[in-house]
Amino acid sequence: MEKKEIREKVLQLRDQQKPADRALWDDIIYGKFTGSEDYRDAGVIFIFVSFRSEVDTHRIIRKALEDGKTVVVPKVVSKKEGMKVFRIGSMSDLEAGYFGVLEPKEGCLPIPSEEIDLVVMPGAAFDREGGRIGYGGGFYDRYLSEMGREVRKVALAYRMQVLDKVTMDENDIRVDSIITN
Ligand SMILES: Nc1ncnc2c1ncn2[C@@H]1O[C@H](COP(=O)(O)OP(=O)(O)OP(=O)(O)O)[C@@H](O)[C@H]1O
Ligand SMILES: [Mg+2]
Repeated sequence: MEKKEIREKVLQLRDQQKPADRALWDDIIYGKFTGSEDYRDAGVIFIFVSFRSEVDTHRIIRKALEDGKTVVVPKVVSKKEGMKVFRIGSMSDLEAGYFGVLEPKEGCLPIPSEEIDLVVMPGAAFDREGGRIGYGGGFYDRYLSEMGREVRKVALAYRMQVLDKVTMDENDIRVDSIITN
């Protein structure tokens, strides 16, 4: 199947899950992630801010801030310029931006990618080799390739998002691990 087809199928399925089920799965993923060595060892965490039926990261972000981590979140600058990342000190540093996704407000400090220890990745579909299909913007693939170094990448996903095999192009960057329910 083509990436676009896989993306649409899996996102449709994810949207159809019961909110109560997703809440239970979110709890499991929250526990696994915040109990992980990746989390423990990271001082600076780049994490997506969850939107709609994505695995909830708001609770993870609050916990990371409480634990004294430096939390940085992306902002889409433009299709051409891609994403930049900014430090937030609390959830109130966020406001609705690109497609309604919560993004850092004006005044948040931009953080150079050199400082990032761990990237927590969103996505539509994944496979067991770390293959990943995002939302079609190429923003994460580009950001990671422009980092110009290896950085630890952990994806958060519901089990139904992990397939046997997803189609990968040359620009697509694999994740190192996937935490699921
Ligand atoms: N490193 C890159 N440099 C330039 N263009 C890129 C790069 N990575 C991806 N792209 C382009 O971005 C477009 C979207 O890519 P793709 O379909 O892989 O998005 P995606 O992985 O679903 O999105 P995202 O990475 O934001 O989650 C494609 O045209 C792809 O060629
Ligand atoms: Mg891609």
